[in-house]
Amino acid sequence: MNAAPNGHLLDCRNLHAYYGESYILHGVSLTVGDNEILALLGRNGAGKTTTLRTIARAEQPQLRKGEIYLRGQPLHGLPAFKAARMGVSLVPEDRRIIPGLTVEENLILAQIAKDPGWPLERIYEHFPRLAERRQQEGITLSGGEQQMLAIARALARDVSLLLLDEPYEGLAPQIVSEIEQILLEVKKAGMTVIVVEQNAVAALRIADRCAILDDGSVVFTGDPGEVLANEEIRREYLAL
Ligand SMILES: Nc1ncnc2c1ncn2[C@@H]1O[C@H](COP(=O)(O)OP(=O)(O)OP(=O)(O)O)[C@@H](O)[C@H]1O
Ligand SMILES: [Mg+2]
Repeated sequence: MNAAPNGHLLDCRNLHAYYGESYILHGVSLTVGDNEILALLGRNGAGKTTTLRTIARAEQPQLRKGEIYLRGQPLHGLPAFKAARMGVSLVPEDRRIIPGLTVEENLILAQIAKDPGWPLERIYEHFPRLAERRQQEGITLSGGEQQMLAIARALARDVSLLLLDEPYEGLAPQIVSEIEQILLEVKKAGMTVIVVEQNAVAALRIADRCAILDDGSVVFTGDPGEVLANEEIRREYLAL
């Protein structure tokens, strides 16, 4: 059967997606293994955010053709809240920290939204900055701390596939490297991550594999070493 598990945590097959009549994804296929970090790269407008939104089953874009399986279970017919229940979590560029709530309340709310994931103590062990600021209102955190909170919320919800859209945007190198360490630990703890980044070098540092999108199609998949060694790919798609 088509839907039979094939060893991949995520299996996207031939995705065709539209915003209204604008045809954006032209048959995107990609797989991500259990416990893997995939860097999803490509120029502005290539379709990276659209791909993440399609996987998370956001209302827009509309998936008109193609299939998405999470551990062999079909996601393509589901609305976003059901995909979330199955363990998919999208952290959008704006991070969506809930105003009026403290750091801790943001985390507790995530825990009651679904089967609880990591207990708060475990989260605070991995995110000392959040532990120090647990009573601070979430939206008053710095950009880097907000990104950490967004990732921590996913851990609080027992997510199996974390989709990060430009997590390093606007952050100082020191904070980027703190988040890199957190993502490597999160991976060790059994989570699978897709990271979309303009900062290709940073994304490739922690990635196990890389996929490059261009004009709504996957034009390359390989390991990070292959990407960095390929002059043409670097110049053409990554501006490196
Ligand atoms: N809501 C929308 N309505 C119509 N077109 C859209 C919408 N969102 C995105 N697009 C178009 O879809 C294409 C892919 O956009 P997408 O946001 O997925 O690119 P991206 O790879 O994430 O780019 P960036 O690196 O700039 O974030 C672009 O041409 C964009 O203009
Ligand atoms: Mg984008």
